[in-house]
Amino acid sequence: MHEPIVWIRGERAGLGPFSSNLVDLYWQWEQDPGVLVGYGRQTPDSLENRREGFQHQARGTDDQLRFTVYDVTTDPPTPAGTTAVLIDHHVRTGEFVIQLGPASRGNGIGTEATRLTLDYAFHVTNLRCVHLSVLSPNLAAIRAYEKAGFRRIGERRNSGYWLGELANETLMDAIPADFPGPSAVRQAVESDR
Ligand SMILES: CC(C)(COP(=O)(O)OP(=O)(O)OC[C@H]1O[C@@H](n2cnc3c(N)ncnc32)[C@H](O)[C@@H]1OP(=O)(O)O)[C@@H](O)C(=O)NCCC(=O)NCCS
Repeated sequence: MHEPIVWIRGERAGLGPFSSNLVDLYWQWEQDPGVLVGYGRQTPDSLENRREGFQHQARGTDDQLRFTVYDVTTDPPTPAGTTAVLIDHHVRTGEFVIQLGPASRGNGIGTEATRLTLDYAFHVTNLRCVHLSVLSPNLAAIRAYEKAGFRRIGERRNSGYWLGELANETLMDAIPADFPGPSAVRQAVESDR
């Protein structure tokens, strides 16, 4: 087994490439009820469809940031989840999404992976604003996003479901001026000089 590639890392989480070697694991995480409910998806996906979807995602890298999130507290680092930013080049913005496998939740990995993805989006991809929407009852996600540098900008009413009940969506955004730092991207660039 080769050591996985981790491009930028914090104390608990790191970001590495989205990889065809891990697509079955991505699929497994995505079918967890916590992820289906959090994403508002109502039916499980098939592994065959997910593998085909991966091929499409792998070809679209000009318009998307996609990362495997690693738990870097283990040696070697363990795959823990994925993050993505879907880019709108016309206005230099992007929409953020994240999911972690059930075993990796609740240890600060989601917060740090979110912060590292913002770091990359602002300092490598040069986006001016990253935004997201999250079902308002998803309190753990909202808390993690706030700790990572997102702030609440509003609420869209009656626009989703949470465990069978109609729910609002909380809208959040982050801009480079709010980025708390330190920047793992800057550290990686400056340590190469
Ligand atoms: C949402 C998700 C990415 C968060 O990652 P995580 O590693 O579990 O989150 P963290 O441990 O970094 O932070 C969670 C925070 O929420 C808090 N929290 C957990 N449950 C909570 C609840 N019911 N109410 C309020 N806060 C809660 C935790 O205490 C922690 O805050 P703290 O560090 O101040 O104590 C992860 O849980 C996940 O993948 N969930 C399933 C998919 C999903 O919902 N994705 C988001 C779709 S928009």
